Amino acid sequence: MVKLNSLLQYFSLGQSSFQSTMSVSNLTAVAIAAHTLPVLPYSYSSLEPYISSQIMELHHSKHHQTYVDNLNAALSSYLTALLNYDIPAQIRLQSIIRFNGGGHINHSLFWRNLAPSETPEADPVASAPQLVNEIERTWGGLDEFKKAFAQTALGVQGSGWCWLVGKHDGRGGLQLAIVTTKDQDPLVEDGVRPLLGVDMWEHAYYLQYLNGKAKYLDNIWNVINWKTAEERFLGTSREAF
Ligand SMILES: [Fe+2]
Repeated sequence: MVKLNSLLQYFSLGQSSFQSTMSVSNLTAVAIAAHTLPVLPYSYSSLEPYISSQIMELHHSKHHQTYVDNLNAALSSYLTALLNYDIPAQIRLQSIIRFNGGGHINHSLFWRNLAPSETPEADPVASAPQLVNEIERTWGGLDEFKKAFAQTALGVQGSGWCWLVGKHDGRGGLQLAIVTTKDQDPLVEDGVRPLLGVDMWEHAYYLQYLNGKAKYLDNIWNVINWKTAEERFLGTSREAF
């Protein structure tokens, strides 16, 4: 028999809140309710003129919401498949969970590494002195880093993301690197910490920039939240993931 404790542990739920007699349907309901769309810490229009209000509203309330809904549905089905010993269904669902769970993680990280341009958070020197120092040490300057980032980001084929990450160097520090990920693959491997990400899916820029990906990348630096990036770099960030 499947042990209820193991299932609860799998979904990171505390046993104390639940009765061991909880039904399968109740457990499924728990899984459905597990993830919600995060509230943005700024309005849809506050990143203009660099990211339009229309893009922000669609991107957050439609695209991200769909990832959340699909993730919850897939987790619910996965739980049922576990309880039914349905291994083929479990295997089929893994790619759906990866895609939609990745979409939920990536967008949640993305919203928090954006900020209105007039706020102190958008000033890299004021808000991210230690990260900027490490960027300058790695790439020779902030402008050189942005050029390298754009070059890598423009190399994304199809849909994906470009990230500034810190890789654990084995001596307690982080080695900065620019990496891309395909589709909604999340950065979940051990020793890699996402510091800031830029969504390179067409839904992130096309309504405003059409095929002008380079201009989108130029402009997005005006609304990057460097305070969040600094906190992630220093390991003091309170992320949901
Ligand atoms: Fe997106």
